[in-house]
Amino acid sequence: MNSRRTLLKNILAAVTAPLLPGRLSASDTLAPTPFLTAGPFYPRDPSGLPFLPARTTLPEPLTNDLTRTRPEGRAEGRHILISGRVMDVTGRPLAGAVVEIWSVNARNIYLVEDGGASDPDFAGFGMTETDGEGRYSFKTIRPNGYDRYLGLIRRTAHIHVLVKVAGAEAFTTEMWFADEPRNSIDSFFQRVSDPGLQDRMAVILSRGEGVDRAQFDLVLAPQYAGRGRS
Ligand SMILES: [Fe+2]
Repeated sequence: MNSRRTLLKNILAAVTAPLLPGRLSASDTLAPTPFLTAGPFYPRDPSGLPFLPARTTLPEPLTNDLTRTRPEGRAEGRHILISGRVMDVTGRPLAGAVVEIWSVNARNIYLVEDGGASDPDFAGFGMTETDGEGRYSFKTIRPNGYDRYLGLIRRTAHIHVLVKVAGAEAFTTEMWFADEPRNSIDSFFQRVSDPGLQDRMAVILSRGEGVDRAQFDLVLAPQYAGRGRS
């Protein structure tokens, strides 16, 4: 058993060390990324709330590049490239998972709020699928934080993320930015008290040529990774 545990640990270390340094727990599993609500701005499921004009028309075709909706235009704001892996708690990559993201545009408006009128070149919503190694990527903008409902909701900068694995529940969470001052006033950010998880969810942008890059890995708990279900 010890040799099997050692082998598993070595495999996990080899697979995950470059992505999740120091994240292995004593039980040889990775801490799952916390579930966070999709919120009222998920464009595929308009809330129906009277103060939110529901948009049901999504950009076509759905792609992993949110920074262009037409050949002649580019989304306002700072463009970033997000890439990462989707895996289960053992570090096994989840291939063929559908990954969706959505966020406010550079003017702090969601697609469901104005139908994209305030920046018609920002798609507002994107979708892709993980490859055989569980990898995915998106090109999008770095959003700002926003206030809503007369300041009752004060959010830090975030990108909503949804992952669907066949045969499992849909999983939603958020990606944050490590250098964002509003993290300290955000109740969702502060709810994730584990510093390791905060580090994984709050990305550090690295300067690239033409576009800044972020790495955001997702670790799905069994009910979202399709395990334990028949
Ligand atoms: Fe949001």
